[in-house]
Amino acid sequence: MKVLRKFTLLAGIFISTNTPLLAFGDTNDHKNSNDWRKIADTEKQLSHLIKVIPGTADIMIQMGERYKNLYWAAKLDKWEFAAYQMEEMQSLIRKLMITRPKRTTSANIFLQNGFNKLPVAIEAKSWQQFRDAFANMRKECLACHIKNNHAFIRLPSVPPKGSGLALFAE
Ligand code: HEC
Repeated sequence: MKVLRKFTLLAGIFISTNTPLLAFGDTNDHKNSNDWRKIADTEKQLSHLIKVIPGTADIMIQMGERYKNLYWAAKLDKWEFAAYQMEEMQSLIRKLMITRPKRTTSANIFLQNGFNKLPVAIEAKSWQQFRDAFANMRKECLACHIKNNHAFIRLPSVPPKGSGLALFAE
């Protein structure tokens, strides 16, 4: 009788403590078993992160958008928005220098030569100066494409209208 009570008690503890834990473990396994962010060691997490940081093509799609927005912001007299586009383009190139070290040398040349006239033109809110500065930047974009074996990626000197919503606001 005593033995039986002890057994029941033990079984009770086992069931009450372990069953919920097992059930919890199951749901967790279901959710996390393939989730490297939660279960992998730091080395593996880091190697995965390095694989998914934005590459040149990802960054260039954004550069293309900002190229259009920059041009049309100036054309539509939205100079603050133009300045903002230019700054974002500069920071994209700095990001590229981190994510794709092999582009650093040509990216640096672009940072130095691509933006040497734009800030003054934007500050002066001068369409005349801007056109010249924009053409100069375009030349530097293309020079970098040539240096990086992508000469076939050309850019229109008058880009189609940008998609930035601020361009369309009253
Ligand atoms: C550091 C060199 C460099 C600079 C500076 C640069 N590009 Fe690029 N760009 C590239 C490379 C390299 C590619 C090809 C993408 C790849 O290799 O993954 C590319 C691709 C592109 C693409 C095609 C993206 C696609 O996948 O369809 C566009 C658009 C583009 N660049 C726009 C620009 C514009 C606009 C500028 C200047 C404002 C510019 N790029 C400046 C190196 C550069």
